[in-house]
Amino acid sequence: MCHEGGCGACIVCVIFKDKTIAVNSCLVPVRICNGWNIYTIEGIGTKREGYHKIQAVLADKNGSQCGYCSPGMVMNMYSLGFEESLSAEQIENSFGGNICRCTGYRAIIDAFRVFVTDASPSMMKDIQDIEELYDIKPCPISEMPYVPILYDKQHVNTMLRIKLEDAIFYKVHTIEDLFSIFTNNANATYMLNGGNTANGVYRSSKKDIYIDINNIPDMSNITKTDSTLVLGGNVTLTTALQTFQKYSTETGFKYLEQLVDHIEMIANVPVRNIATIAGNLMLKYEHKEFPSDLFLILETLGTEVHILKSPSDKQSIYLSEFFNLNMHHKVIYSVVLPQLTDQHIYRFYKVMPRAQNARAHVNAGFLFKLDADDKIFFKYYLFIFIIFFKKVLEQPNIIFGGINKDFTHAINTEKLLVDKIIFSSSLLKQTLDVLHAELQPDHVLPDYSPEFRKTLAEGLFYRCILSIKPEKIPPFYLSGGTILKRGLSIGHQFYETNVDIWPVTKPMPKLESIAQTSGKAQYCDDLLPFPREVFCAFVVTNIAKGYISGIDAKQALHMKGVVDFFKADDIPGENLCISAVNGMMSLPEDELLFADKDVSYAGQPVGVIVAETHNLAIEAAKLVQIKYKESSKTKPVLSIEDAINANDKTRIRQSVNIPAKRKGKNCERTTFI
Ligand SMILES: Cc1cc2nc3c(=O)[nH]c(=O)nc-3n(C[C@H](O)[C@H](O)[C@H](O)COP(=O)(O)OP(=O)(O)OC[C@H]3O[C@@H](n4cnc5c(N)ncnc54)[C@H](O)[C@@H]3O)c2cc1C
Ligand code: FES
Ligand code: FES
Repeated sequence: MCHEGGCGACIVCVIFKDKTIAVNSCLVPVRICNGWNIYTIEGIGTKREGYHKIQAVLADKNGSQCGYCSPGMVMNMYSLGFEESLSAEQIENSFGGNICRCTGYRAIIDAFRVFVTDASPSMMKDIQDIEELYDIKPCPISEMPYVPILYDKQHVNTMLRIKLEDAIFYKVHTIEDLFSIFTNNANATYMLNGGNTANGVYRSSKKDIYIDINNIPDMSNITKTDSTLVLGGNVTLTTALQTFQKYSTETGFKYLEQLVDHIEMIANVPVRNIATIAGNLMLKYEHKEFPSDLFLILETLGTEVHILKSPSDKQSIYLSEFFNLNMHHKVIYSVVLPQLTDQHIYRFYKVMPRAQNARAHVNAGFLFKLDADDKIFFKYYLFIFIIFFKKVLEQPNIIFGGINKDFTHAINTEKLLVDKIIFSSSLLKQTLDVLHAELQPDHVLPDYSPEFRKTLAEGLFYRCILSIKPEKIPPFYLSGGTILKRGLSIGHQFYETNVDIWPVTKPMPKLESIAQTSGKAQYCDDLLPFPREVFCAFVVTNIAKGYISGIDAKQALHMKGVVDFFKADDIPGENLCISAVNGMMSLPEDELLFADKDVSYAGQPVGVIVAETHNLAIEAAKLVQIKYKESSKTKPVLSIEDAINANDKTRIRQSVNIPAKRKGKNCERTTFI
């Protein structure tokens, strides 16, 4: 389990405020669940009470292998089942946050496709057959088992205060209550709980006070006028997406359609269901390097943000200015999206490692206001094209995320383009040169290389220009301006079988699959603690090269619940993880268990803390102090090129030599790599 909202193994179904949604339980602190009805995999169907259809279908269609991801898959599908209508595309797009490491997604998505609203007769027949095979609970997909609401309805609107072991938790219903907590706890560290999902991106440190602000009604308001669309800070990304869909046909707000596409690339459905607009903007505020997609699209549009300094003091500023504010004891109340004219051209892009649920390598937003038609001539091979094109009227917005923590606008490029016709090839070249000069990506691992990200950013700008008037672009360049759309996945599986010898060779579901898809199968994390069970956490080096002169674990060992600390001296026999003598993995040399003198790389284990709980072990490991004698300034060897250039014989070796048996006619040299 990732505990970061990224794998979906922990998804449960939640009903609150008349909404039925999937959420990642790993991100939700129990304190903000007051008033929620929560349904788990065991709650929707069991062997004793009868299985739920979704559990049976996934089992029957071979949608589980180890079964670790299956409860999350089922609960995500279960939550989707409450939608009024469900298309195959919607189902496929809703599983971006469910990772399966072994079955593969074809079988899972195929299984769930039987639940589309307009399922074909053969699919309906499939479900009927499955229902006959398994003992199914007699309820439609969307029927919830009755759970009495346990919270005190009478006091539902009064402020809640709970003294936790080492913090205080408040649940507030008014802005006034929120600010009174600020006033009464002037020096306390605090965190406002929206969906608490930012914790899945950057772990937050412990605070004195936690305040659940989700129940302040004003902050969930959505107001549409002719010239603005105002969304409260507490509006979730899912609600924002639905709102954008709703207003995307209105004059001046057609751009919302592109925002829908972009928001669908933010995180995954369960995260978006509780992640708020304000929470995302604050994540960007607190971690400038974060390539927030929401900030990108809102800043591109010139969005204003309303900040509350007190219940009666509301400040309205542009999003870019908000980063210069001191946000201590201030609240993001709402964001105001403007109306755009027909002269505005807008584009939003995101390049990420996979199509869904991934942080951007680079993202980009462009907004141009263009003049009436202008003619220019464009030569392509022997042809001369007359292109009708427009001047850039105002300073455009050319915005990139993923470059470096201080970079937002490509200001020099923006200035250069004012009053120019962007589709002249000489200007385009000049613009790309200016952009090239001002894009200075940093190199912070594990981000991809600066060269790669810079090329992406320039490519996105070029893509935008090509996309503005596709009908005027020579065919050769046309595809450069388009975005590839991935269609629905299709796959077939055939089983070789011989009917004459059935049941031998007869395809049938794995016996334990229904236990896996109904949450009955047990994994390590499900096991209750054994008597005297302990947990370990490695203590690791924080320099890449140097010499260890001492290790001091006193502070860690004083912590209640920490059992012991072991380092190289404590290992009976050889301090080895793998010995080269065994010939395993063709290791050329012994692999140490714990570094004792020389440090070979950052993150190298030097010892292990043993404690009564996993968290305690991790916290204690951080307190162990490693003393280094000298931290060598040798340049680290991080890539194959570095190793070749360093001519370091310990890193480059020939394992086998297979001489070439023959050689082609035009071949000068043969080499084995
Ligand atoms: C798996 C995963 C993938 C993600 N992928 C993307 C992505 O691709 N693109 C992207 O842009 N984002 C992404 N995110 C970030 C996500 O959008 C944010 O985590 C989310 O929007 C934060 O909202 P929240 O309500 O959960 O904030 P919380 O976690 O509740 O709060 C975050 C911070 O905001 C403060 N805060 C909350 N509300 C207010 C307010 N009204 N006024 C002032 N301060 C406030 C809190 O004190 C806290 O410091 C991803 C997150 C996860 C977990
Ligand atoms: S454990 Fe991975 S999303 Fe919750
Ligand atoms: S992780 Fe999906 S079945 Fe194993």
